[in-house]
Amino acid sequence: MLTVKNVTKKYGSFTALEDVNIEFGIGVHALLAPNGAGKTTLMKMLTTLMKPNAGEILYNDENIFLLDDKYRDVLGYLPQSFGFYKGHTVRQFLLYLAALKGLGKKQANEKIDELLANVGLSDAASLRMKKLSGGMLQRVGIAQALLNDPQVLILDEPTAGLDPKERVRFRNMLSELGKTKTVILSTHIVSDVESIASRVILIKNHKLLCNETVQQLCSQLNGKVFERTAAVALHDGEVFLSERQDANGLVNRFVSHSVPADASPVNAGLEDVFLYVYGEEIQ
Ligand SMILES: Nc1ncnc2c1ncn2[C@@H]1O[C@H](COP(=O)(O)OP(=O)(O)OP(=O)(O)O)[C@@H](O)[C@H]1O
Ligand SMILES: [Mg+2]
Repeated sequence: MLTVKNVTKKYGSFTALEDVNIEFGIGVHALLAPNGAGKTTLMKMLTTLMKPNAGEILYNDENIFLLDDKYRDVLGYLPQSFGFYKGHTVRQFLLYLAALKGLGKKQANEKIDELLANVGLSDAASLRMKKLSGGMLQRVGIAQALLNDPQVLILDEPTAGLDPKERVRFRNMLSELGKTKTVILSTHIVSDVESIASRVILIKNHKLLCNETVQQLCSQLNGKVFERTAAVALHDGEVFLSERQDANGLVNRFVSHSVPADASPVNAGLEDVFLYVYGEEIQ
C-alpha cells in the first residue's frame, strides 16, 4: 500500500499540489487530468525524485524517503521523457539499466528477452536507440520500468506515441500487472483509462478532486447527458461537452440537470465526466 498523506508541493511561491491524500492499493490507478494539473509532480514525489514541502508518502506504513533503496528496489518508473546514449542498442540500454538495478548479466538477458517479447520488440534488440520511432522508444521505456519485477509501477504518460495496436497490447499488459501490483499511470487520454483503471484520480485546482471507480464517476452524470442536433442552439443552463458527426449532420452532446423535451438521453461515459469537470481548462 502506497499512501500519500497531506502532501503539498510548491515550486517557489507557486503551489502545484495542495494537501493531497490518496491510498494506492493493488490495481491500476489512473491520474487523469489536463496539462499542468500536477501529474508529473505527484509521480516524481512517489518515486522519491522530489520531496514534498509538507506531508508524507508511506509504503506499507514506512516513509519512502527513509526506506530509500529498499523502496526503489520494489519500484519501476517510466518518466515522461527519458535520456539514453544514442549509440546504445536496445539490449545495451536495458542491460545498462538492469546492472544499475543490481541484476546479473545472465538474469538480465533472460529478463530482457521476456520483456521485449511482452512489448512486441523482440526483433528490435540490436537496433540502435537513435533509430527507434517514438512508439518503439516508449515501449523500451515500459520494458525498462519492469526490469526488476516492481511491486509498484509508476508510468508517466506511458501511451504517448503508441499506435492503436500497441495501445491495446499495453492495456492488456497493465491489466495483468494490476492483478498483483500497484500500478499508477498518468494520462489525459480517456480511452486508455476506461477499460483498465480500477480507480480514476482527478486533480483540479491543485487539489485532489476525486478518487473513484469509472462506474462511480460516470454515475454522477447518469440521466444528465443528452444529444441534440447542432442546428438547435443550446438552451440556458445546458453545458456543452462535445460534438460529433452522424448521418444527419452535426450533433451536440451536453449536460442538463433538467430533461429537455427536444433531446435524446445518452449513457454518460468517462469522456463526458472529463469534459464536464475540466471544461473551461481544456477548451
Ligand atoms: N520545476 C518546476 N518549476 C516551476 N514550476 C513547475 C516545475 N515543474 C512543474 N511546474 C509547474 O507545476 C504545475 C504542474 O506541472 P506538472 O508537470 O506536474 O503537470 P502535469 O500534470 O504533469 O502536466 P503535463 O500533462 O503537461 O505533463 C504546472 O503549472 C507547471 O508549470
Ligand atoms: Mg506531466
